[in-house]
Amino acid sequence: MSNLESLKLELKNLGKEYAKLKTLEKTERKAFGEKINQKKNELLKKIAEEEEKLESGALEKIDLSAPFGINESPISFKKGTVHPLSRELALVSKIYSDMGFDVIESRQLDDEFHMFESLNFPAGHPARDGYDTFRTEEGFIPPAHTSTMQYRALTRFRKNLDAGENIAVVVPGRVFRNEDVDATHEHTFYQCEGIFVSKTASLSQLLGTWKNFFETYYGEKLNIKTQPGYFPFTEPSLEFLIEKPKALGGNGWLEMGGCGMIHPNVLKIAGIDPEVYKGFAFGGGIDRLVMLKYGITDVRYFESGKLEFLKEF
Ligand code: PHE
Repeated sequence: MSNLESLKLELKNLGKEYAKLKTLEKTERKAFGEKINQKKNELLKKIAEEEEKLESGALEKIDLSAPFGINESPISFKKGTVHPLSRELALVSKIYSDMGFDVIESRQLDDEFHMFESLNFPAGHPARDGYDTFRTEEGFIPPAHTSTMQYRALTRFRKNLDAGENIAVVVPGRVFRNEDVDATHEHTFYQCEGIFVSKTASLSQLLGTWKNFFETYYGEKLNIKTQPGYFPFTEPSLEFLIEKPKALGGNGWLEMGGCGMIHPNVLKIAGIDPEVYKGFAFGGGIDRLVMLKYGITDVRYFESGKLEFLKEF
């Protein structure tokens, strides 16, 4: 007999109890009647419940004891990853920030003044051609190096000097050059610029700062050397090289970028008195660092959006 059937039978039998009422003393009738009524109501309720259960029996039961998985999805998908260049830019910024540098962003569209004039390239200066700049129809320039941010950094943090502090800023950023593209040359790449100004800034501080950065980045002591360079915005100007880190096989020299003491004209244009203050600046490519670190042989992979490449990171 099913649950429902036995309940119904019980209800039927309860009906017989009502006949007993007549046989009872008047004083006992009330209590007995109430007891039967209560029992009847209970049975009716249980019967209704059983009937409802049967009706919904067609639905699949939910297992409430199953483990609760908030991250479970019925759709399978793969998580994306941070682009290797973004990851490296964040690491580079973190190292400089730990060294006490402010980090500011560069921009992807700039102008003649920030690209050339503010950096002591007078109009018609032959070194302007060396930067293979793109130009929009309106005459704007996608920056060919992060040095376009020097004037902005100097004017923005000039107040530090008035307060007796230094200017210490790095600018990671995307840069663009109109040159032939091959495995080691890309029209779009990344640089990180460093700018430091104080009353006593010196060339040895410049070399020590940059050496310190590369040693932290590669996690080992490094030999460095410099070669003469030329930039209108630094005097003297140097090319900075490190001896290949042991972690990368350690043989030969790697050119890491340009640097030098900020030209007095550049300080003057930014409203800083070159008689009182001295500065140094350095700037180098980020793509190179990442290529060396991961053994990437073709710079063009970075901008390619190729999934086979990106999935390796
Ligand atoms: N902007 C220079 C370049 O891209 C490098 C540089 C930066 C040189 C700062 C001197 C000072 O070639």
